[in-house]
Amino acid sequence: MYSSACVSMENLAGKNIVLGISGGIAAYKTPELVRRLKEHGANIRVVMTEGAKAFITPLSLQAVSGNAVSDSLLDTEAELAMGHIELAKWADMILIAPATADVIARIAAGMANDLLTTICLATDSPIVVAPAMNQQMWHSKATQHNIATLQERDVTIWGPGAGEQACGDVGLGRMLDVPELVTLVKDYYASASSKGILKGQHWVITAGPTREAIDPVRYISNHSSGKMGYAIAVAAKKAGASVTIISGPVNLDKPQGCDLISVDSAVDMHESSINLAPAADVFVACAAVADYRVANVAEHKIKKTSSNDNMTIELVKNPDIVASVASLPNKPFTVGFAAETQDVEQYAKAKLARKKLDLICANNVAIEGQGFNSDNNALTLFTENLEIALPFASKSELAQRLVTEISTLIAQ
Ligand code: C5P
Repeated sequence: MYSSACVSMENLAGKNIVLGISGGIAAYKTPELVRRLKEHGANIRVVMTEGAKAFITPLSLQAVSGNAVSDSLLDTEAELAMGHIELAKWADMILIAPATADVIARIAAGMANDLLTTICLATDSPIVVAPAMNQQMWHSKATQHNIATLQERDVTIWGPGAGEQACGDVGLGRMLDVPELVTLVKDYYASASSKGILKGQHWVITAGPTREAIDPVRYISNHSSGKMGYAIAVAAKKAGASVTIISGPVNLDKPQGCDLISVDSAVDMHESSINLAPAADVFVACAAVADYRVANVAEHKIKKTSSNDNMTIELVKNPDIVASVASLPNKPFTVGFAAETQDVEQYAKAKLARKKLDLICANNVAIEGQGFNSDNNALTLFTENLEIALPFASKSELAQRLVTEISTLIAQ
C-alpha cells in the first residue's frame, strides 16, 4: 500500500507561482517556503498585503525570491514593471500562504481592494489557500461559510493544521508547515488536473441519492449529498475529460462545462447509464442507489386508515447499475464505491470481485466527519492487486487525487 502523497517527486522547473502573503504570524515562514520551492525549480513572485509587511519585510522576500516584491495596486512604477494583469497571467498557480480570515473573506466576496485580491479575480489559474488563524476564528460561521464559498468556486484549501497557536490556543488554524506545502505543490503539478491528462476521454459519473416513489408525494431515499460525485466530475473536467453526470436529486449547482442528466429513480439512472457507458472511457458509480424500489407505486396519495395501525410496502430489488455497466461487452474502466461501517477492506474487495469492477473506492462511513453529507472524506482504493490509501482531505482534494490515480491505472 502507498499513500498518494508520496508518489510524486515532480520537478517544479518552469512553474510560475505567485506567492500571496497576508498578515499572519505564519508569514515568518514564507522566506523558507520561497527557498524550498525555488530549490525545486519554481519561479516565485511574491505579492504582499499591507498586513503581511508588519510581520516580514518585502526586502527579505525579494532577496530569497530573486524578484521584486509587489505590494501595491496603485503604484505606477510597479504597474509599469509587471502590472496586476500581467502577474495574474504569468502565474500558473496563486498560492496564498498564510491566508488570514480577512483575505479569505475578501476573496470570497470577490473584492479587489488590494493587489492580491485583484490578482485572484484577474487570473484563470488555480488558486490555493493555506489558512492561518486563531482556532476560534477558523471555526467561526463566517470563516467556514467563506471557505465553503471558495471550495464551490474550485479554490483549493490546504490545511489548516492543528496544534499550539501563537496566541496560546490549541486547535485547528495553524498554517501547514513548509515541507507539507512544498509536497502539496509538487503533488498538484504531478496530478492529472494540472496536465490536461484526460484530454479526449469521456467520463460518465453517477452521483447523489435515488428516490423511489411510494405514491405521488412520498418516496424512499438516503442522505447522499452528491458532493463526492460532483467533485470527481469537476476534477475529471479540469484534467481535460468531457464529463457527463447522471445525478439523483441534490442541492448542488451543475459544475461548469459538465453535462448533467437529472434522474429520480434507480431505474432511470440505470437506463441513462446503460445508454451512455458504452461510449465512455471511464464510468464512476458514486451514486448511493437505493437497493430496493416499491413494487406497486400507488397512483394516488395513500391515506391513513383508522382500521389498521400497520402498513406493509412490498419492495423489489433495483438493478445494480455499476455491475450492469461492468458486464457490458465494451465496458469502460469501471469504478465503484463501497461505503461501509465495518470490515471495510473485506467488504470492498468482495464487491470489487462480485461486481467485476476495475477499481473500488472504500470509505468507512462510521467515522464521524467523513463520507455521507460531509465535506471531507478518506478513501482506500483497491484493484485486483493494488491497495492505495488516499488520506483524509476535502472531497475536492480527494477527487483530484482519485482522478490522478485512475488516469495512472488506465494508462498501464
Ligand atoms: O452494493 P453496494 O450498494 O454497497 O455498492 C456500492 C457501489 O455500487 C457504488 O459504486 C454504487 O454506486 C453502486 N451501485 C449501483 N447500483 C445499485 C447499487 C449500488 O450502481 N443498484
